[in-house]
Amino acid sequence: MIEAVGENTKFKIGDSVFGFLPYGPFNRRGSFAEVLIASADEIALKPAGVSHIQAAAAATPGLTAIQGMRDVGKLSSPGGRVLITGVSGGVGSVAISVAQRLGATSVAIGSGRGVELAKKLGASEVIDRKKQDVFTSAQGPFDLVFDAAAAYRWNQWKGKLKARGMYVTTLPSLSVLTDKLMSLTSPSGTWFVGIKSKPADLQLLASWLDSGLTVAIDSTIPLRDITKGLAQLKRGEVLGRIVVDVINGF
Ligand SMILES: NC(=O)c1ccc[n+]([C@@H]2O[C@H](COP(=O)([O-])OP(=O)(O)OC[C@H]3O[C@@H](n4cnc5c(N)ncnc54)[C@H](OP(=O)(O)O)[C@@H]3O)[C@@H](O)[C@H]2O)c1
Repeated sequence: MIEAVGENTKFKIGDSVFGFLPYGPFNRRGSFAEVLIASADEIALKPAGVSHIQAAAAATPGLTAIQGMRDVGKLSSPGGRVLITGVSGGVGSVAISVAQRLGATSVAIGSGRGVELAKKLGASEVIDRKKQDVFTSAQGPFDLVFDAAAAYRWNQWKGKLKARGMYVTTLPSLSVLTDKLMSLTSPSGTWFVGIKSKPADLQLLASWLDSGLTVAIDSTIPLRDITKGLAQLKRGEVLGRIVVDVINGF
């Protein structure tokens, strides 16, 4: 909820908004704040029918999936086939719904409770990475491998990609740079997604939330339980997202 506005903004006091605040080593932004200052292009109006919990949970994985699959992965025309990893996680689970809205069908790689979640979210096929060999089970060709888990590399998947297909990971690294150079002489390509706050993408996400996209919420926890929540995330016990309630949580 907006409490005060600066000049030249379309937002007004009382508006319900959601968004993604870019973070990094130099902006000292922190997180889990009760009150914060955001720039107008880092937020969008929250649709009235969408809860604050859903909207808050959606922004980071939603933008990562949209920008990773549509912009970096070039998944734009209907009829695409995408392989998505890390479906127990926030990014991977939301990516299944985003792929669907980009007109693609998805094959999901997950484990444990993520397998059922991926089926529920509409993946056409789900591979249990702890019970199956993912490389023999995933039947290509794919337009895109969206490695939400950032667990693999382009050269492991290039044989399953169509010509001009892309392997996109969520973590930048030296390996990605090396693979990018190697891929220059290959029919397929690779790169990583670096999430950016873009009002048009937040508005697109808002419209999808309004028309039924839902984010899997593992739990909503009070601020005082944040250490427990972060430990759960670290142990890989979370299905979807944990939302921190900073208003009712002291
Ligand atoms: N580039 C960006 O701008 C950006 C933005 C947001 C997040 N990220 C990054 O994206 C990644 C995913 O974020 P998230 O919030 O979804 O994380 P998360 O909630 O921790 O989920 C990661 C998922 O990856 C899968 N996984 C874990 N270990 C694996 C392994 N060894 N092999 C294969 N799969 C494995 C697990 O799902 P299953 O058990 O179901 O396979 C896990 O739930 C993180 O590395 C995060 O830092 C990047």
